Amino acid sequence: MNVRPDAGDIEIFAPAKLNLFLEILGRRPDGYHELETLMLAIDLQDRLTFADEPSGRIDLRCDDATLPTGPENLVVRAAERLRDDALASGRAARPLGATIELHKAIPAEAGLAGGSSDASATLKALDQLWELRTPTDRLDELAGEIGSDVTFFRHAPAAICRGRGERVERVGLPGVYHFVLICPPMGVRTADVYNNLNPPESPEPIGPVLDAFRSGDPGQLGPRLFNRLQPVAERIQPALGRVRQALEALGPSLDGHLMSGSGSAYFGLARDGDAAREAARRLESLGLGRVRVVTSGP
Ligand code: C5P
Repeated sequence: MNVRPDAGDIEIFAPAKLNLFLEILGRRPDGYHELETLMLAIDLQDRLTFADEPSGRIDLRCDDATLPTGPENLVVRAAERLRDDALASGRAARPLGATIELHKAIPAEAGLAGGSSDASATLKALDQLWELRTPTDRLDELAGEIGSDVTFFRHAPAAICRGRGERVERVGLPGVYHFVLICPPMGVRTADVYNNLNPPESPEPIGPVLDAFRSGDPGQLGPRLFNRLQPVAERIQPALGRVRQALEALGPSLDGHLMSGSGSAYFGLARDGDAAREAARRLESLGLGRVRVVTSGP
């Protein structure tokens, strides 16, 4: 997070995430699903700037005209939730407003949690801009209320997430992992995937993938990558099967591949940066979607 001393406004980057493992433990009475997932932030990032607005208005501008800029946008929801909480708890002694600019790089409906990451960045930036000093636990609670993936980004770059996704346990990053990322032009709606899912009778345990992740060795991690939502998303959007097949066809030049979250983005895990760039070169000519080389972190 950067504070520009001349203007006093704040610039912050919001990373995307990949799910290296995602299992569904059951359906909950509130309609959500109990899950267990290993998430990793990557260096594909949105950029947000925040300037104080003394009138108390919250105004979002976004360079992607297809995205809403009203309360449907998680950035606005996060700003309003933080402001209302500060007013209710007496932490705010003046009108709290902001002009927010959102420069999107993370595609929507891709399973990369771009909107959730923007919301998490908003909580952090506005807590500082408005000088609220909201307790860390309270920020975690607000994050969990805004969306299932928002809390993760407060504890990135790597964590196991449970419950709806909002119960987060940090995991140390053993080194840099290299990926090739494909974002197909068609998105998948998260709710559609969960609505078409049958929770498994015997869920896959997270232990083996966690051990492999901690080794820092892509050769160990690759065969352990797992996502319960992938076959569901491929049934809803059959064109995604071609993306999986293209990654499969790269064979041993990748250590493994998977769909992220509820899709539609897929990633291949590579031995190193050169292998990721070589995979990207071969995938680019297939016209399956936007191809990028990314790494874990930042
Ligand atoms: O919390 P979020 O808005 O990201 O969730 C989007 C939708 O995904 C929810 O409305 C719900 O249908 C589904 N979901 C779920 N179980 C989860 C997370 C999300 O069923 N753990």
